[in-house]
Amino acid sequence: MQPDPDNVGGYLISARSFDEYRAMFALADSDLSGSVLDCPGGASSFTACANQAGASAIAADPVYARPRRSLAALATAEVERGSAHTVAGADRYVWDFYGDPGGHARVRSASAEAFSRDLIAHPARYVPASLPTLPFPSGQFDLVLSSHFLFTYADRLDLEFHRAALRELHRVARREVRVFPLLEQGGRPVPELLSGLAAFGIPHRIQRVGYEFQRGGNEMLVLDATQ
Ligand SMILES: C[S@@+](CC[C@H](N)C(=O)[O-])C[C@H]1O[C@@H](n2cnc3c(N)ncnc32)[C@H](O)[C@@H]1O
Repeated sequence: MQPDPDNVGGYLISARSFDEYRAMFALADSDLSGSVLDCPGGASSFTACANQAGASAIAADPVYARPRRSLAALATAEVERGSAHTVAGADRYVWDFYGDPGGHARVRSASAEAFSRDLIAHPARYVPASLPTLPFPSGQFDLVLSSHFLFTYADRLDLEFHRAALRELHRVARREVRVFPLLEQGGRPVPELLSGLAAFGIPHRIQRVGYEFQRGGNEMLVLDATQ
């Protein structure tokens, strides 16, 4: 399937920071010493900062098929859209990590700016690609991270899509896949999905992490890719 940059309507191109990723995915320094895929990367600064921290990080997202400079402008506009959405529903969130909505907006703006700079400086790090098909050989990445796409949009991505996407993320991983958060919108039951993974012989576990922004969103799904 070819990535379609115009078919991202409704998906916020969000810009979570490296520190948010570290917290969401309980990342240790040792997790950042090998190759890492962030899919979808959106306008996150994770890839920029992970490379600075010594990892060999790549991001994949269909939106990267857009012209690079228009993507930088989109990242800024999407921070404003995301912040407005967050402020409108402020009581649905736990503010400990950011302090308040202003702190949240500052983190995301700085992240979008770091993303935009890295996109121009290192365009090869940002690969246009759409789940459930990724243009990478099997086992290319030690660690694969997936934030705020699977489960988050379960109202429009069905069970089959989730199964296929998780199998694809697992295919390109050598050690582990981590998916955050496990909040379901649209009522898709995680147990049904996990039993499908078991049937494909993919060992997995659910792990509590020390980050919670969306209330109840404090767990990640970990797929073991070593077997
Ligand atoms: C909410 S953002 C998450 C971005 C980043 N992981 C973060 O946490 O800031 C969701 C992303 O999913 C991307 N997306 C939409 N359809 C996709 C697909 N079929 N495969 C991979 N990514 C997709 C969108 O372009 C968007 O950047």
